[in-house]
Order: sequence, then structure tokens, then C-alpha cells
Amino acid sequence: MSPSPLPLSPLAAGLWRLNEWGLDTPALVRWIEQALDLGITSFDHADIYGGYTVEARFGEALAAAPGLRERLQIVTKCGIKLHHPARPAHRLKSYDSSRAHVLASVDESLRALRTDRIELLLLHRPDLLMQPDELADTCRTLLAAGKVLHFGVSNHTPGQVAMLRKRMVLATHQLECSPLQMKALADGTLEQCVDLGLRPMIWSPLGGGRLFTDGGDAQVQRVRAVLAELAARHGVSEASVAYAWLLRHPSRPVPVTGSGRIEALREATAALNVALSAEDWYAIWQASMGHEVP
Ligand SMILES: NC(=O)c1ccc[n+]([C@@H]2O[C@H](COP(=O)([O-])OP(=O)(O)OC[C@H]3O[C@@H](n4cnc5c(N)ncnc54)[C@H](OP(=O)(O)O)[C@@H]3O)[C@@H](O)[C@H]2O)c1
Repeated sequence: MSPSPLPLSPLAAGLWRLNEWGLDTPALVRWIEQALDLGITSFDHADIYGGYTVEARFGEALAAAPGLRERLQIVTKCGIKLHHPARPAHRLKSYDSSRAHVLASVDESLRALRTDRIELLLLHRPDLLMQPDELADTCRTLLAAGKVLHFGVSNHTPGQVAMLRKRMVLATHQLECSPLQMKALADGTLEQCVDLGLRPMIWSPLGGGRLFTDGGDAQVQRVRAVLAELAARHGVSEASVAYAWLLRHPSRPVPVTGSGRIEALREATAALNVALSAEDWYAIWQASMGHEVP
């Protein structure tokens, strides 16, 4: 069902916070080009980002710079319905993986992004009313139409991943992990990725920025102390060490950056050249958990 290998770069750039970055269209074009120069060619969206506005802003940048589209891959998501003025038909926040919603959402994303295809479509959150056979059939329709080239999930349990994988090819599982948030290491999610060869994408790799902004928190203080020591030893920034910690996992994760600063993207890519030892990795784990391994 997936005709070509998933073409993600080693890190992806996330656009969730685009509206906070103060970039007009020419500046966004420049930002995309600088990310591409760093080897970040995959850009992570969702229909709902920026209150249903971010995809369209990215689409304006693509339209302003012909040729850009062919140099990058678009990841976007569907399945969350926000209660939002842009979607007056939604009476409350809910999840929807029905055929009608997914097909309409993809058409809306294609229109906003001003493109004819989405390289990777993720189901953003697990829909408790999901009918997996219907969803797999919807994905086959989108693949046959050439509108979506690969499919994946985000924030699903291992059981939900297993249920869907019986019916369709999943290219990735996008999940939260960072030196401050290690749930996916403990609940079987990342083990399943290793077992299935399902390369995860990692969201909020810096804890949503809390690693560098929440200095009063005891866990942050413990982790920062270890990051600082390893950063000095490896000659890189603390953020680079945080990314290197994620990249050290055997599931071969693709971290998704969240910053609008090119320097922060550079720090992320610098992590690709940092080889942490297993002891370095466990030192960060221990600092995060507040105790040594049992
Ligand atoms: N699938 C999902 O459910 C889901 C959920 C959340 C996010 N995501 C995706 O994951 C992407 C990344 O998530 P995130 O934005 O929470 O990532 P993050 O890297 O954990 O946090 C980014 C935030 O940290 C701040 N920051 C502070 N110090 C920084 C430093 N030294 N280096 C880099 N950033 C620093 C950034 O501000 P500056 O811009 O000022 O650097 C930015 O506000 C999103 O854009 C989105 O594409 C997916």
C-alpha cells in the first residue's frame, strides 16, 4: 500500500508555532530555504495548527517560491475537530476518523498548502469510535488518488497501532518524548516501534521549551545539570545534547523541531554528529526520573 520509501529527513521541522514567529511570507520562504540548507527537508503540519491557519501560510510561501515544493516533504495530520470559529459546524472538540471527515480534511489541507499531494498523513489522536476497516479503506482511496503517499498515526497506544497495522501500512508513529517526558519509553510505545521497524517521529523534543524556560522546576534543574556537563564534554549546546539523547534510541527516531530560530534548527542538526555513550544516555534518564535504574 506504500509505493515508495518514506522520504523523511533525519530531523523534521514543526510548524505548530509558526504564528508566534512573526514571519511574513518572504521571511517564511527564507526560513524554509535555510532549513533545507541544513538538511531538514520534512515539514510537520496539522490541519488545526494556528486555528486552521498555518497550512495556508505555508502554502503562500510555496506559491511565492516556485521550485520549493519539489525540495521538501509535507507531513500533515487530521482527525481532531476543534470547536473554533473557522469551523462553525463543530459543536465541541472531538475526534473523527470517519471516511467523510478524513477525505474532506485532506482536500482542505491540499487546498491550503497549494499542493497536489501530501507525503505523509497522520491520524492526530486516537479516535475512540474508530472503525479500522473503514479507515484503512479511506487511506486506500487517498493513495489511489495520489493525494497522500504514506500514512501514520500520532499519540496512539501500542494496541491501537497493532489494530491498524493489521489493515494498512503505517510509516511512522509520531509521539511525545524528551528528557522531561519519558512515558513512551515505559509504556511499550517505543519498544513497539523497534519491534516493528516503525521509525517514530518525536514531538516536543525539548519539552515544549520547558527545558530552557522552566528553571524553577526540580526535574528541569537536574536534567540541565547533566546536559551542561555533556555539552561541555562534546563541545555542543545543551539543546544539541537533548536531541542526541533522543537520536540515541534504537527506534531511530526523527525528532520534530519546534523553534522558529534557524540557530535552534542548527543546534538540532548538530546532534546528528554527537555520539552519546549508553552511560551518558542513562545519566540523562536518571536525572529526569530522579533516581538510578533499579
Ligand atoms: N503530534 C502531536 O500531537 C504534536 C503535539 C505537539 C507538537 N507537535 C509537533 O512537534 C513540533 C515540535 O513541538 P514543540 O514546538 O513543542 O517542540 P520543542 O522543541 O519541545 O519546543 C519548542 C519551543 O521551545 C522554545 N525554546 C526555548 N529554548 C529553546 C532552545 N534552546 N532551542 C529550541 N527551542 C527552544 C522555542 O522557542 P523559540 O522559537 O524562541 O526557539 C519553542 O517555543 C511542533 O511544531 C509540531 O509540528 C506534534
